[in-house]
Parts: sequence; C-alpha cells; structure tokens
Amino acid sequence: MSAASAGYTGLTFRQDYFADPAAWTALVSLLSDTFGIDLDPLRRPGGADPTSMPFGWFDRAGTLVANISAFAMPMMINGRKVNAAAFQSGAVRPEWRERGLYRDLTGKALDWCAAEGFEAIVLYTDKPGLYEKYGFVSLPMHLYTGAAPAPQATTALPRRLDPWNADDLGLLQAALKTRTPVSDRLAVCQSAPMFLINTQFDPDVKLSWLEDEKAVIAWKLTDGGAFLLSDVVAARIPSLGAILDGLGIAPATVEVLFAPDKLGWHGEPRSLEGGTRFMIKTDGPTILDAPAMLSPMADF
Ligand SMILES: CC(C)(COP(=O)(O)OP(=O)(O)OC[C@H]1O[C@@H](n2cnc3c(N)ncnc32)[C@H](O)[C@@H]1OP(=O)(O)O)[C@@H](O)C(=O)NCCC(=O)NCCS
Repeated sequence: MSAASAGYTGLTFRQDYFADPAAWTALVSLLSDTFGIDLDPLRRPGGADPTSMPFGWFDRAGTLVANISAFAMPMMINGRKVNAAAFQSGAVRPEWRERGLYRDLTGKALDWCAAEGFEAIVLYTDKPGLYEKYGFVSLPMHLYTGAAPAPQATTALPRRLDPWNADDLGLLQAALKTRTPVSDRLAVCQSAPMFLINTQFDPDVKLSWLEDEKAVIAWKLTDGGAFLLSDVVAARIPSLGAILDGLGIAPATVEVLFAPDKLGWHGEPRSLEGGTRFMIKTDGPTILDAPAMLSPMADF
C-alpha cells in the first residue's frame, strides 16, 4: 500500500535524517511521548550510533508521527559471528495509528537491511505479533545463578568509572573498542554507543576498572546480597574468581546476565520472566545451542 492510498497525504517520508538537528529533536519528542524516555541527554556521553538508519514520516509542521530505526549490531550467536542489524525506536503517534504507517516503515527498514546484506535482524518487543508475520521468532532468555567461587587474598583497588568524567569516558571507549564478546553463545561484538547509553539507565549498576585484568566490570549487589554481573568489557574475559577478587568482594551467590562460557564458572540457567521478547529474523538457526541472554548493557 502506498503512502497516499493509506490515507496519509500531507506527510513526508525521510530516511537517514539524524544530521538535521530539528529532525533529531522530533525523534526525541516522539520517543518521549510514546515511551516516556528522554534520549537527548543520554546520547551525550558517547554520541549517536554512526550506523543508525532512521526511517520516519513527518507532518508539515516537522513533527515526527511515525518512526523505526535500524543500526548495525554484529553479534556472536551459537559460536559464530553474525553480521546482524537491530531495530529500535519503533513508534507511531496515537492519532496516526491503524493506518498502515508502521507496516510501511517496517517494510522499508526490512528492505534496507536486505540491500545492506545483513544476515539477521534482532529486536526487543512486548508485541511479538507485530513482527511474527515477517518471520521474526522469539528466543527465550536465561540468566545463570550459582554459588560464588571461593575468594582469594587480594590487595586490588578497583577504580570506579563515571561516564560523565572525560578521563573515565576515554578509558571506557578504549576498552569498548578492543573488547571481545562477553560470551560466544549470545553477545554483541561491540555496541559501544548502546553500552554508554545503558550506563545511565540503572543508577545501581557500577562500572569498575580492574587494572590487573584490564577489564571494565558492570555489576551491582542485589537486595538479597547476591553479586549480579551485567557485563565485562575487556580484550580477554577474566574468570569470575578474578573479577570478584579484583573487586574485593566475597558474595555467597552470583547471578550472571549472559551465558558464562568465558567465566570459568558454572551456574544454573534460569528463565527470564517478563513481557519483553527478544526476537530474531534470520535464514540461519533460530534456536540457541545453550541457554543464554543478551547482557542488559547491550539493550537497545
Ligand atoms: C505498535 C504501533 C507501532 C503500531 O503502529 P500502527 O501504525 O498503528 O500500525 P499499522 O497500522 O501499520 O499496523 C501494522 C500491523 O500491525 C498490527 N498491529 C497494530 N497494533 C498492534 C499491536 N498492538 N499488537 C500487535 N499487532 C498490532 C496491525 O494489525 C497491522 O497488521 P497487518 O500488517 O497484518 O495488517 C503503535 O501502536 C505504537 O506506536 N504503539 C506504542 C509503541 C509500541 O508499542 N511500539 C512498538 C515497539 S516494538
């Protein structure tokens, strides 16, 4: 169905519009009105993802009424590097819904991904029905829980990182540039812009630099006192024991929010509850070889 026949004359389609500050502001406004999140300040520490490709319909006043964005998100899946894209920022203003605008934009974004040669597309959604008809399938997500490794004596002094501090941001960005995926089962290869944005969402998640390991650890203690490991940014992933020793903490239990195949530790997989699904569209396998989840620091 064309734009005109769908009944949205007066709208203008624009793609790749981030260089226009007014159009960027219109996207911030659409996402704030739809999801209640203000992306503008969050983007400052690292800048927008340079691979981002937004697709949007604007009205005559320059208001963005419908949008979907794609960006490159190379990932490890089942031990293989996959040239994946991700969809985000999918929204249509209420007064413009049920006219086919989202169908139109999804089709444009899918066509662009096919032309760019992406092997897979991933997304998060609470409305899987929107995407199943295009061949997206849900991948179940599992975290890992278990007893912590026995502590070793340590004199380590972890350095707390603040992405708003220029020196700390530089260190973080350098580590992100040379990182290895935190897991071979399911993990992003780099995703630096999303990592930096996600540091702003949960104020309880600490970023600690372990000098001996040359590793950034994203972690917190849960209300119950368990050590919750969200992500590790390093060229070589240290063992869980080395991480705890480096942080100078000795918890009884651990929860790991990614598959721990590089941590030298075994936990029990636990299904992640919640309404949000992680979906993938690919000609390759759509089943994980082992339970896994994408680190929340890669959320998009
Ligand atoms: C979901 C949303 C993007 C749909 O936009 P829209 O322009 O009304 O959608 P369209 O008119 O293009 O409909 C596209 C298709 O989605 C279906 N659809 C619409 N809303 C849906 C919903 N809430 N759940 C499942 N399917 C839905 C339509 O029936 C239509 O199916 P068809 O292609 O088989 O005919 C819009 O309601 C919205 O912005 N909601 C709030 C934010 C949100 O949930 N975004 C999606 C995040 S993943």
